[in-house]
Amino acid sequence: MIPTNPYGHVNEDLSAVANEARRKRRRRYLTSIVIIAGFAVGIIILLAVTAGNFRTPRFRVRSATFGTLNVVNSTTPSFDIVMNTEVGIRNRNFRRFRYRRTTVDFYYREQKIGEGIVWNDRVKGRDTRKFVVPVVLSSENVTSSSELQNDVNRGVLALRSRSRLTGRFKILIVIRRYKHVNMDCSMDLVIATRELTNISCR
Ligand SMILES: *[C@@H]1O[C@H](CO)[C@@H](O)[C@H](O)[C@H]1NC(C)=O
Ligand SMILES: *[C@@H]1O[C@H](CO)[C@@H](O)[C@H](O)[C@H]1NC(C)=O
Ligand SMILES: *[C@@H]1O[C@H](CO)[C@@H](O)[C@H](O)[C@H]1NC(C)=O
Repeated sequence: MIPTNPYGHVNEDLSAVANEARRKRRRRYLTSIVIIAGFAVGIIILLAVTAGNFRTPRFRVRSATFGTLNVVNSTTPSFDIVMNTEVGIRNRNFRRFRYRRTTVDFYYREQKIGEGIVWNDRVKGRDTRKFVVPVVLSSENVTSSSELQNDVNRGVLALRSRSRLTGRFKILIVIRRYKHVNMDCSMDLVIATRELTNISCR
């Protein structure tokens, strides 16, 4: 007599249950792969859309007040001026812009007459950081005294400020996007009224 296995029936059931469980597990596994892949694609698209898309911040001279303002109006003209220059960095992006220290150079007719320091710091998203940069402007190295004589006579000095700021935006902790920001402003210093007017930046 062939011994019958009283549990044969049960075994079949058990293996069917095991198969079903395995199938379920596989389905769950595939589902999580699809979800993770979906997330990855989403993040990549988000990065592609935002990463290269930062607007260059604006960097400019906004106004100034004056300390010492010695201007000699004679045939040997000269000036020695302490200008407290208000500078602004405007960040139109939603992310913080962190910049490095730089200098702002001031010119009178292509001759450098002074410089100020912008210390490393940051601008919040959608914000403008304003601060005062003290600068000493000196005619010490100005060679064209006839032009200077004309301007001093008229009472208006045409100045120019130039600078280059380097900073970065951070995305997802590890990705950094660098931006170089140039300043090139022209302005008129009215000696009698101690005013900085006609500030115009490119
Ligand atoms: C004038 O030139 C000298 C020599 O190049 C330099 O050391 C000095 O700092 C300059 N002065 C100003 C006000 O730029
Ligand atoms: C500079 O001196 C000249 C001659 O003395 C005079 O005519 C002119 O008004 C003076 N300019 C200023 C801004 O004081
Ligand atoms: C400001 O610019 C205008 C136009 O260029 C000019 O007429 C005016 O004299 C300037 N002001 C000063 C103070 O130089």
